[in-house]
Amino acid sequence: MHAIELESIEKIYSGGKQAVKALEDVTLRIEQGQFYGIIGQSGAGKSTLLRCINLLERPTRGTVTVMGKRLTDLAPRALQRERARIGMIFQHFHLLQSATVADNVAFPLRLAGVPRRQAQVRVAELLELVGLEGHEAKYPAQLSGGQKQRVAIARALANDPAVLLCDEATSALDPNTTQSILDLLLSIQARLGLTVVMVTHEMAVVQRVCDRVAVMDHGRLVEEGPLAQVFVSPQHEVTRTLLQAGDPEAQRVRPVRGGTVVRVVCAGAAAQGPFLQEAAARTSTEVSILHGSVDRIKDEPFARLTVEWTGDPPRVHQALNLLQTRGCRIDIWQEEGWRCAL
Ligand SMILES: Nc1ncnc2c1ncn2[C@@H]1O[C@H](COP(=O)(O)OP(=O)(O)OP(=O)(O)O)[C@@H](O)[C@H]1O
Ligand SMILES: [Mg+2]
Repeated sequence: MHAIELESIEKIYSGGKQAVKALEDVTLRIEQGQFYGIIGQSGAGKSTLLRCINLLERPTRGTVTVMGKRLTDLAPRALQRERARIGMIFQHFHLLQSATVADNVAFPLRLAGVPRRQAQVRVAELLELVGLEGHEAKYPAQLSGGQKQRVAIARALANDPAVLLCDEATSALDPNTTQSILDLLLSIQARLGLTVVMVTHEMAVVQRVCDRVAVMDHGRLVEEGPLAQVFVSPQHEVTRTLLQAGDPEAQRVRPVRGGTVVRVVCAGAAAQGPFLQEAAARTSTEVSILHGSVDRIKDEPFARLTVEWTGDPPRVHQALNLLQTRGCRIDIWQEEGWRCAL
């Protein structure tokens, strides 16, 4: 069973002067226990899509099924019950300012009719889970952004959700705090077997935590797949633009030794070891790195390097062929821009 199944979703906002089609024919399945990313430019429909998963927005067409229950068919009461099993966190936390940390976390428990004593125990457990023991009696205004998001996460987990929806949950946080919130989400996800769906415009966030990613553009889902596949071989122009936006320096690289400037992108086994030097040695050519890094996609090595290759042109060609055979994506820079492959 999939955790989430969206079938032919359309969403038209018709409240204003002009109707806006925010989603068009979106079909998407998300497996249980995955960390799933949704990316796209501003206005692409990411938040609308996320809010359709728990029917905060009701699609104008299509069906939404979460953990085997077709939410779009449910009567209000039953929907309310199912919705309690879908947690959600937001960019600006949405905490009750006049309630303490403990009361914020207890809020969904109270709504669900959990007895006071039991709720207290649960709140203590949740605050420990998110690392906020000792902060029970504080008010949101006394907390840092990262601590506020921890409260929001504890609250979202109060009713043991199977699914956690995150809308730009780290976008208001500095890089270190972002890191610690992502670590928390990863550990909670692993511990509780949660399915997490995360909307973000930050590619570094996607790169760190997501197993799969969907790319939205103008209300349509234009690309979807395992993270490494989408990052190494983006199929859609919008995906390429989003990936490049995270690395503006790469666009400015020019040859310095009269060689061929090449962008090499690869993940997993293909990104391990001194693969550039090996290809150069086997073809009696030379390679020097102009820009880039080898870091990680989730737990896999991921290389994105701009290099200059020098030597006899047919041999350089042969070296690049070797890399391609190994599973690297190769783009060659020419005056008019990057050209794919060989
Ligand atoms: N409540 C609403 N009423 C009318 N139009 C809306 C409403 N919410 C969103 N829209 C429109 O729907 C489209 C998709 O919006 P959405 O908020 O889903 O985009 P997004 O990808 O989340 O953008 P961002 O990255 O800026 O958050 C946009 O054109 C937006 O203006
Ligand atoms: Mg949004």
